[in-house]
Amino acid sequence: MPPFYITTPIYYVNDVPHLGHAYTTIVADALSRFHRMRGDDTYFLTGTDEHGQKIEEAADKRGVTPIELADRVVERFRETWTNLGIANDDFIRTTEDRHKAVVSEVWRRIEQRGDITLGAYKGWYCVPCEAFYPETQLVDGTQCPIHKSAASWVEEPSYFFAMSKYQDRLLQHIADHPNFIRPENYKNEIISFVKSGLRDLSVSRTTFKWGIPVPDHPEHVIYVWIDALTNYMSALGAPGTPLYQRYWPATCHLIGKDILRFHAVYWPCMLMSAGLPLPETIMTHGWWTVRGEKISKSMPATRVDPNQLAADLGADALRYFLLREVPLGLDGDFSYEALIGRYNADLANDLGNLTNRCLTMAGKFAGGAVPAADPAVADLEAHAVLATTARECVAEAARCFEDYAPSRALEVIWRLVREANRYVDAVQPWKLAKDPTREAELAHCVRGFLEAIFWSARMVSPVMPDKARAILGQLGVTGEAAEHAVTSWPDPEAWGRDLPTGQVVGKGEPVFPRIDAERQEALLKRWIPEDALASAAPTTPAPAPTTPTRPLAPPVTFQDFQRLDFRVALIKAAEPVPKTKKLLKLRVDVGEPSERQVIAGIAAAYPPESLVGRKVILLANLEPATIRGVESQGMVLAIGDEEILGLSAIDKDVPPGTIVR
Ligand code: MSP
Repeated sequence: MPPFYITTPIYYVNDVPHLGHAYTTIVADALSRFHRMRGDDTYFLTGTDEHGQKIEEAADKRGVTPIELADRVVERFRETWTNLGIANDDFIRTTEDRHKAVVSEVWRRIEQRGDITLGAYKGWYCVPCEAFYPETQLVDGTQCPIHKSAASWVEEPSYFFAMSKYQDRLLQHIADHPNFIRPENYKNEIISFVKSGLRDLSVSRTTFKWGIPVPDHPEHVIYVWIDALTNYMSALGAPGTPLYQRYWPATCHLIGKDILRFHAVYWPCMLMSAGLPLPETIMTHGWWTVRGEKISKSMPATRVDPNQLAADLGADALRYFLLREVPLGLDGDFSYEALIGRYNADLANDLGNLTNRCLTMAGKFAGGAVPAADPAVADLEAHAVLATTARECVAEAARCFEDYAPSRALEVIWRLVREANRYVDAVQPWKLAKDPTREAELAHCVRGFLEAIFWSARMVSPVMPDKARAILGQLGVTGEAAEHAVTSWPDPEAWGRDLPTGQVVGKGEPVFPRIDAERQEALLKRWIPEDALASAAPTTPAPAPTTPTRPLAPPVTFQDFQRLDFRVALIKAAEPVPKTKKLLKLRVDVGEPSERQVIAGIAAAYPPESLVGRKVILLANLEPATIRGVESQGMVLAIGDEEILGLSAIDKDVPPGTIVR
């Protein structure tokens, strides 16, 4: 079994977990659950970062000792991870002895290499970042570029790590290992940073005490990032111990973009100096924002409590939303409305409805048990399409998970869910039931949609472990069979015989009850804290309305306007039109029997993957045209003239094809 060792950053204990922390941990959890299903020897680590000036100051402010603060807050993290269904193999705290021992060992290795020298640090330091800043990077000469708060001037004796020595080796490593820093844009950012010249790094502090002492020089504490990064190794044990041998180097450090430099520059240089292997991939994700503002502890307006959302909606619905909504690597703006919208559309409507209606039909048309497949029917086109889609989706979703693209994996799984819904509508089992000559076809069809539900549930189980089990339970898959179903990825060859014939299925209770307008209102009231509403008032003045760039066009009559047929369109797929900069080729569902292809000039403003699953307004009766050799059937409404500033928004959850007037 190949090892798959995945880590999250360790979280600071100066405050309680928020949605940003939850995101990283949920992604890592889903990926590790997937790799377990694939049979990889999987190990998933998370933990807390408990040393440093920031924690010392936070504890002082609360009138407690740093360890008291850490002991209290670490419980909030543990609780949150339980509430969110996180199945980590270990949880490391940097105040544990096992961690301190490995940090000291790594320090000694670096020292023995001759890479540590005593000097004095004189410069700027941002405590919230726990990072040194050259003056040129500060805003207005004094403010941290990330926190926009005043950096502190520091002058103290310090040990320095000869990081500059590793500049060329690091560049070479990045060039030789294309998957070392992902996605590509972050790799490029690091390459230009390293090429601009690495400086030696101050790696000890003397003006406070809360940290791991430098071996043999206890008047210095080790710089908190050197301490923290080492957690990825210390949780396994020192080099040479059994867990270390089994899992090091890590397969993936999953991190937020704010801490890329520490992971992609400091950590590899430290490891090279210590003579230890480098992790395989540093996978970087973007930020969750609320109305464009980064979610953080210090901004009440952006505070989103994952515990509350999980309690009200179920952890799995939140996990699904976070993973599906934003492709890993991009930023995403969080809104409660979008969360409920996706819940209703993808979970209640697509997956929930499929399960419900199909189980009811299995009861009605197959005596509530899984019928046998019929090879003669399997070849008929209407039935063959479902089998082909299922096999393709199983293979493709696995590729997406393996490629750190959970959002795409879910999109692919939903292809099967929607195809199964379409299959039912196309085959119309209720009609087959009236025709005694088509009994075998009816049985085959019932088996087909039950298997489609079975595979969908198995494939979503890394993301929605509880709901997957609930669906399996309704299919009669329980006990060991359920365990097997969620710990092994479906085998494409097993389609048509993966559910035991004759197995009794349940009645179909709604797994994702729909959230109606009344409940939505009640939830929003509970979720949005009063102080958030108060501080949500824009801090920067709204941009002045821009003067139209061209005069208003001449009036049109109401009859003219009525000739235009606008519809809600759901974007199912998007890809660039080759050899163009502005154009995207979209596949959209406008509520018609088949999907349409539309060319939209919005590539400069929207990466294709950010569009899938979005609803837009389409001028649906525009005469088809061929644009750059590609046919376009309609036009997406976009905001802006020369430059695209936005897309038309739809503020209620309505099905594709709905009329807009
Ligand atoms: N302690 C350091 C990490 C040391 S790792 C060796 C740290 N901790 S943190 O608590 O401030 O944040 C850790 C991580 O939380 C971020 O890197 C990121 O993965 C996640 N997020 C925090 N806020 C976030 C958003 N608003 N959006 C997405 N993820 C964010 O940095």
